[in-house]
Amino acid sequence: MLEWFLGRWRATSRKIPASPPASVSPLAPETPGWPAHVAIIMDGNGRWANQRGLPRVAGHRAGMTRVREVIQACHEWGIPCLTLFAFSTENWKRPPHEVEFLMRLPEEFFRSEIDELVERDVRVRFIGDTHRLPPHTQAIVSRTLERTQGNRGLVVNFALNYGGRADIVEAVKAYAAEVAAGHANWDELNEERIGQRLSTAGLPDPDLVIRTSGELRLSNFLIWQAAYAELWFTDVLWPDFTREHLAQAIADYQRRKRRFGGIK
Ligand code: FPP
Repeated sequence: MLEWFLGRWRATSRKIPASPPASVSPLAPETPGWPAHVAIIMDGNGRWANQRGLPRVAGHRAGMTRVREVIQACHEWGIPCLTLFAFSTENWKRPPHEVEFLMRLPEEFFRSEIDELVERDVRVRFIGDTHRLPPHTQAIVSRTLERTQGNRGLVVNFALNYGGRADIVEAVKAYAAEVAAGHANWDELNEERIGQRLSTAGLPDPDLVIRTSGELRLSNFLIWQAAYAELWFTDVLWPDFTREHLAQAIADYQRRKRRFGGIK
């Protein structure tokens, strides 16, 4: 699956005509060092709203328009995979009306965007425990999966009710079930087999993790998969994050020396 994904990435990325703005331009997609997977912690919606005397949910709605923009940019620049942290397993602790609003946003977003996503050949996936989402949110998750499952372009993972530790626990449980059924044994458990049972199975690990709003932590986001990711932090609040900021993050990423524990 991973090989298939990377093969398709190489094939499609050469066809991408559009480039990011020249002032902050990352290198062309076919250049070695182009990230195969960008993951974003979209933080700062509440502060953006507070600064304007607006209710917090206004920040989330403004943040939604940036989701659209980064998907378009990734599609145009030939980035094969984008993961967006939309709701964490810890976000249930927020006031009920904010949780309710966040659970309605996917409906609003996909109702207005689905045709364009299909047109752009975007395949939407969801990572996290979506079975615990309210029925109306689960319904839009299912409809979106159905509408985009045949697409072969940019993969966009929406992390909804996602937690990195829970992701690892579920992978180990899945392996334990296979051991119990006699289809696997504990001696053969290794990193690759865990990776094959994570919610991101079949996708490359994130090369670049971006977090907005000045916070310097991963907050339980893709903690296994991001083991060797390059991290990029910005003070910009998510509703102010534009494709130019994304281009800047990618350009910085391309200047990093990745050694994966080696010396070169
Ligand atoms: C963190 O900001 C943001 C979230 C918990 C929600 C992120 C959701 C979106 C950007 C919209 C998602 C769109 C779709 C399509 C599902 P915060 O509220 O923690 O901000 P703060 O730290 O300033 O309070």
